Amino acid sequence: MTLLDVKALKKYFPLARGQLLHAVEDVSFAIKAGDGLGLVGESGSGKSTIGRLLTGLELADGGTISLDTSTDTAVQLVFQTAEEALNPAFTIERNIAVGLGKNRSSDPKRIAETARSVGLDPELLTRRPHQISGGQQARAGIARALVSEPELLVLDEPTAALDVSVQAAVLKLIDRLRRERSIALLFISHDLEVVRLMCDHVLVLYLGRVAEYGPVEQVMSAPAHPYTRALLSSAPGKSNRVRSAGEALSPIDPPGNACLFHNRCPSATETCRTSKPELITLRDGWQAACHHMERS
Ligand SMILES: Nc1ncnc2c1ncn2[C@@H]1O[C@H](COP(=O)(O)OP(=O)(O)O)[C@@H](O)[C@H]1O
Ligand SMILES: [Mg+2]
Repeated sequence: MTLLDVKALKKYFPLARGQLLHAVEDVSFAIKAGDGLGLVGESGSGKSTIGRLLTGLELADGGTISLDTSTDTAVQLVFQTAEEALNPAFTIERNIAVGLGKNRSSDPKRIAETARSVGLDPELLTRRPHQISGGQQARAGIARALVSEPELLVLDEPTAALDVSVQAAVLKLIDRLRRERSIALLFISHDLEVVRLMCDHVLVLYLGRVAEYGPVEQVMSAPAHPYTRALLSSAPGKSNRVRSAGEALSPIDPPGNACLFHNRCPSATETCRTSKPELITLRDGWQAACHHMERS
């Protein structure tokens, strides 16, 4: 059953002098109940904007976001940092209660249960965010999103602000919660290896456009798009670093008739500078947008 169906999503930010920043351009994907989709791409590729569009914090300029209405699907966002997720003036209990929404009265028992389920000692509920550790703040942010029992969690780089020693524990927690509650995930990360651990599918974004989308194992073992290959080879711990040369093009008024990766791409030809590659289906459920695809 498809929980969420996103079609041709667009988001533009108007800037001074009539310029338009193309943050999200024609992005489509679907998430089934219990599925995990990883959203990867460099900083500025539009990941957080997509998360904000899905949770209603931003309005789209085009496209559709359809949620399964038969289950009244609820979507909750786990923010990137504790500063965004938690109100410093509220206790942890009240912060988690925010996740219940305005129209629901607070429910101390449920909040304590949710806190326990994310590994937060209920004793910490009376504290304020600055009185708990970074890892505990991350757990509180997850509890705030979980307390309304959503079918879909959008996690925006949930471990990026955490010490390395805490990251693995929080990832384990997210994975366990997902399995126990069969929650679907949209997992935003710049780290493909983490996405491989957490997700079934992956969507690779480049300057707001879909470069590649497919089952995570297939995409990572035989990436079709040169940008996916560059992301994989630049991952920390890889010795054969094949860094993409040059700076990314600007997302401000980008050329409509070119591949936006052409200036960094080792395979680029004249076609890539003059014509936009469409998303092509390689196999059922696997797509990439490149004029010089490596087909396996
Ligand atoms: N409110 C905003 N106003 C103007 N530009 C924005 C705004 N939010 C995001 N952007 C721009 O949109 C692009 C995508 O941003 P973002 O979604 O935060 O990327 P990511 O999360 O992948 O790093 C970036 O170029 C960013 O500067
Ligand atoms: Mg972001």
